[in-house]
Amino acid sequence: MYTSRKYAGVIAGVLAAGLALTACSGDDGSSSTESPTGTTSDSMDGATEVEVFTWWTSGGEKAGLDGLVSVLAEKYPDVEFINGAVAGGAGSAAKDLLQSRLQANDPPDTFQAHAGAELDDYIAAGQVEDISDLYTEFGLTDAFPADLLDLLTVDGAIYSVPANIHRANVVWANPTVLDAAGLDPAATYASMDDWFAALDAVEASGQTALSVATTWTQVHLLETVLISDLGADAYVGLWDGTTDWTGSDVTGALEDFETLMGYTNTDRDGLDWPDALQMVVDGTAGFNVMGDWAAGELDAQSLTEGTDYVYFPVPGTAGVFDFLADSFTMPVGAPHPEGAKAWLDVVGSLEGQTDFNVAKGSIPARTDADESLFTAYQQSAIADFASDTIVPSLMHGAAAPIAQLNAISDATSKFTTGGSDLATFQTELAAAAG
Ligand code: BGC
Repeated sequence: MYTSRKYAGVIAGVLAAGLALTACSGDDGSSSTESPTGTTSDSMDGATEVEVFTWWTSGGEKAGLDGLVSVLAEKYPDVEFINGAVAGGAGSAAKDLLQSRLQANDPPDTFQAHAGAELDDYIAAGQVEDISDLYTEFGLTDAFPADLLDLLTVDGAIYSVPANIHRANVVWANPTVLDAAGLDPAATYASMDDWFAALDAVEASGQTALSVATTWTQVHLLETVLISDLGADAYVGLWDGTTDWTGSDVTGALEDFETLMGYTNTDRDGLDWPDALQMVVDGTAGFNVMGDWAAGELDAQSLTEGTDYVYFPVPGTAGVFDFLADSFTMPVGAPHPEGAKAWLDVVGSLEGQTDFNVAKGSIPARTDADESLFTAYQQSAIADFASDTIVPSLMHGAAAPIAQLNAISDATSKFTTGGSDLATFQTELAAAAG
C-alpha cells in the first residue's frame, strides 16, 4: 500500500497558470444544463454499449485496455464494449480525428484525455461534461491524490476519471549492446555530455546509438533534454511564462538535442514508438528514450529486466519525474451516457486500476493499490513518484495546450528534417509560446 505520494510545488505553479488561463477564457463548459449522467438512479439500467475512444493499440497498451474490458464484463455484463481505438502513439492520429468527431456532434461515448492543459482545452470548448456527481456516486473523491484531482478540475467542477500515472523521462537500453560497446550496462549518466561519450561508444561498435521514431517521439526526446539542461524549475517556467524561450540556456538545450538527433536512425520518420523500442530489444540500437508504456510493451514480450533490458532516468534528470496521466471523459452528447458511466466506474475502481496498470507499465492513480502486484520497474516508479520533483509532460498533454504542442511539433519536424537551422527553430519555439 502506498498513500504518501505528493506533488512538488513545482507542478502547482503550472496548474495555477493553466487554471487561470481557462478561467479567463470565460467558457468553462459549465453552460450545459443537461445532466451528464442522464438519470439520478444508481443503476445502469438501459446501458447497452460503450464506444471507448483511445490510441491504445500496441501490445502493452492493448493488454491494459483488455484488463479494463474484462472488469467491465464482470461488473456490467450487459454493456457491450466497442473499441474505438485509433492507432498512432501519443494520439498522433487519434486526437485530430476526435476533434473532427466532436465538432461534427458525433462523439464517442467516452474518450482518453491527458490530465492538465490538454483536458482544459476540451473543457474550455464545452466538449466534456462535469462529472462531479459520479465522484460522489462511485466514492472516488478520496481515492486519488488531491493534486492530480486539481488537474482534472476547473472552477470546482471535475471533468474526467484518471486511469494512471506515467513517467516520460526514461531511457531503455540493451545490456548486450552496451557490453559489446565496452560500456557498463548498470551505468547511469549525470549529464548529456556524459551520455554523449557512451553514445559515441555504441556508434563505434556499429549499432545505432539512440533509436527514435516519428515527430512526436522527437518532441518527447526534446522535452527530456529541456528538463535535463534547464533543470525542473526553469523547465516548468517554459509553461508558466517565467523562462524565456529565446534565452541562451534554451539554445544550449537545443544544441544538445541536435547532437542527440545525430546519433539516431535515419529511417526515424517512418517509424512509431514500438518500432524504435524494438530496435533496442533486437540489439540493433543501444538506447531509446520513451515513456514507461515501454515497460508494458517489454513485459508483453515476456522480456526480463537486467538481462534483456535496463532502464534509468534520462541523463541529468534523476530525481525528476516527468509526469502525465491518462483520464476518461463523458463527452457532451455521448450517445450512450449510461454505458460511459459504467466505463468510468470501471476506470476509477481499484480492480480496474490494478488490472489496467499492471499491463500498461504505468502506476495506478489510486493511492490504495497493492504495490506487490506490480513489476520491479513499476515499484521503482511508485517510489520515485513519492519522492521526486514532479514536472508536467509537454508531449503528453500535461504542460501545454494542444495548439502550442502542435506548433512545437511542426517546428521540431521542420528542424529535424533539415528545413530550418537552430536559430530559426528556437524562434519558432518561442513564437509557439504566444
Ligand atoms: C499516452 C499513453 C500511451 C502513449 C503511447 C501517451 O500519450 O498517455 O497512454 O501509451 O501515449 O501511445
